[in-house]
Amino acid sequence: MSASEIRELLKLIDRPEIISFAGGIPDPDFFPTAAIARAYEKVFQSNTGAGGALQYTISEGYGPLREWIAGYMARKGVRAGMDEILVTSGSQQALEFIGKLLIGPGDLVAVTKPTYLGALQAFSPYEPTYVSIAMDEDGPVLAELEEALAAKPKFLYLVPDFQNPNGTTVSLERRHAILEMCTAHGVPVVEDAAYAELRYEGEFLPSLAGIDAARNGGSPTQVIHCGSFSKTMVPALRVGWVAAPKAAVERMVLMKQAADLHVSTINQIVMHDIVGSIFDSHVKRLRGAYKERRDAMLQALADFAPEGVTWTRPQGGMFVWIELPEGMCGVTLLERAIREVNVAFVPGAAFFADRSGRNTIRLSFSATPPERIREGIRRLSTLVRDALPVAA
Ligand SMILES: Cc1ncc(COP(=O)(O)O)c(C=O)c1O
Repeated sequence: MSASEIRELLKLIDRPEIISFAGGIPDPDFFPTAAIARAYEKVFQSNTGAGGALQYTISEGYGPLREWIAGYMARKGVRAGMDEILVTSGSQQALEFIGKLLIGPGDLVAVTKPTYLGALQAFSPYEPTYVSIAMDEDGPVLAELEEALAAKPKFLYLVPDFQNPNGTTVSLERRHAILEMCTAHGVPVVEDAAYAELRYEGEFLPSLAGIDAARNGGSPTQVIHCGSFSKTMVPALRVGWVAAPKAAVERMVLMKQAADLHVSTINQIVMHDIVGSIFDSHVKRLRGAYKERRDAMLQALADFAPEGVTWTRPQGGMFVWIELPEGMCGVTLLERAIREVNVAFVPGAAFFADRSGRNTIRLSFSATPPERIREGIRRLSTLVRDALPVAA
């Protein structure tokens, strides 16, 4: 294992002079703190006392929370019974369990190029060989997917909505095609829906689990779906989930027991309380606030970015992905950006299993107010212009 570059970079956020586009984190100013405080108070003031909330609980997760998740999944067209849902310590733990469940040394795992760094970190201890699939603006390139599937990977890992790191959303047509191809090859899809609720424009698209379920009488057979409350509510309670066929969930429940027994009982109770009361209204508020930031970043790029720099236009999520002119290096640019203009971001190469993408960088707009975003992009653009190779 190597140390997480993102974690190292997050240390920089604490310096007030830094305008950080580094962490893919929600803005704490938007946390529903009052609702969370009320929910904890309720636990301690309840007639039955807080004993149960402070006690060990079952590994599967707090029943009412799993019921809420089942209802949420049903709204998305996925019928998942209680025994098909496991509450995990964030969706990150679900990824770790999936790695443990499905990967043996040398097994192939198909990922996109780029992909979520945390997934690579979760899978890599199980020693897979990655097959990386190029992406266009509609998702994984199908010809490359076909080639990858023919090599019989253990699964395809995909973030279909506003992918971390490049903001890409897999189109509806491509979702159907991916599922068809994976089904034909008998390759499961691990769907990571961490950002799916944070859509700022366009229509919500059905999840791959939803499409799969629609083809199979309501229950997905081909898709393991990972969900998270980190981006919609708060990350610190560490509540996510995995919805999968019963046999897979049974195995993962044993892993949960071995890993940490269960997610904090009281945190699950509190999460259940707040999603029950404010989920829809809170997510609506987040969409408005983050949209403003996305727009500020895109406008600033349009105003300041030098020629030769290209960027994505995400329909949601937290990230804009930049391609620098060929020959420029994201890591070198980061070193200079921190030293010379007090701006931080994540070099893109970390998100490639094959360590390509040297000239890419990831900018997160979620935790920075619009005027700071504009100033940060202005500074960064000046630096990039200065670093551009002089034309012969
Ligand atoms: C694509 C993706 N999946 C999963 C996670 C893990 O989130 P959590 O464990 O907080 O649910 C993240 C966090 O940034 C992410 O970006």
